[in-house]
Amino acid sequence: MLRKRAKPVEMAANNKQQETKLAAIPVIIDTDPGQDDAFAILLALGAPDLDVLGLTTVAGNMGLEQTTDNARRIVELAGHADLPVHAGCPRPLLRAPRPVPEIHGDTGIDGWNWAPAKTGPKEGHAVDFIINTVLQSDRPVTLIALGPQTNIAMALRRAPHIAPRIARIVFMGGGFFEGGNMTPAAEYNILVDPEAARIVLGSGIPVTAVPLDCTHATPAPVNWSSKLAKYDTDVMLACAGMMEFFERYGNAKYGTKSRPLHDAVAVSALLWPELFEGRLCPVDIECSGELTTGMTVVDWLRQTGKTDNCLWLNACKNINEVYDRMEHVLRNLPYAH
Ligand code: RIB
Ligand code: CA
Repeated sequence: MLRKRAKPVEMAANNKQQETKLAAIPVIIDTDPGQDDAFAILLALGAPDLDVLGLTTVAGNMGLEQTTDNARRIVELAGHADLPVHAGCPRPLLRAPRPVPEIHGDTGIDGWNWAPAKTGPKEGHAVDFIINTVLQSDRPVTLIALGPQTNIAMALRRAPHIAPRIARIVFMGGGFFEGGNMTPAAEYNILVDPEAARIVLGSGIPVTAVPLDCTHATPAPVNWSSKLAKYDTDVMLACAGMMEFFERYGNAKYGTKSRPLHDAVAVSALLWPELFEGRLCPVDIECSGELTTGMTVVDWLRQTGKTDNCLWLNACKNINEVYDRMEHVLRNLPYAH
């Protein structure tokens, strides 16, 4: 029996899809959803230039069980139910967990009536998923860290030989010119696990930091949530509701009219580096200061003579372009009413 030959058009489409996939950057997203993590994950799943190999979850904004369930709900909403989600470390390397329901709500992704996840996380620890996926990938993998960097630090300690196979680590975290958002000196992701961040910055792997210096320079348009709500898809309605909820706490705290989606800015910096500015310089983490634990100490003027181990982003060249491109990707995600 003759095998049904694909029509030339189908073949061309399949080849194009294959080409796009091959040109896309292979990434693993380590995350603690959180509304801004949700935007980041949706953006990454919808962006043709990224090939998301899987999500790994960590204790951060919420406890591990909640961040893992949230990650499953988000990938299912986006129509990517088959994407592997692996649960990771339930607490930082040395310190106690620091969930922040006052910022993200009781579920961590408040603002939308989420359907329960149909399936749970895959078997196997996140740290092992990171190690195995990096070693099995035919191309170096980029790690995107959107929460405390506990899983990534553990992977580097458990299997140091994965370092040369990691193209880059892009993390949302830290603050230098902007100070901190949890203490005067420390931003949340770094404060929760400063030792993990120090391991990552000392790994020799190329690192891009997307700190408060960059995200505070990249606030969403005022009332962006009402613009998102005009689309008739579950993804955009969920984003509108999450944005509206997420902005309440920050606008009250900072007296602003709109807030940056920190983690989505980090994915944007990987997707569209031409829209951001920064400097390659030495960066280290204060892990024992009475007042400054969790501080990202940025040697912006290179006074220490230490290795330039981090591209520290601190400016956005075109805020509207970032959020217009984000909107364009999100509105193309598959779910429609
Ligand atoms: O300080 C902002 C960061 O902390 C974001 O990643 C947010 O999701 C929280 O994890
Ligand atoms: Ca986060």
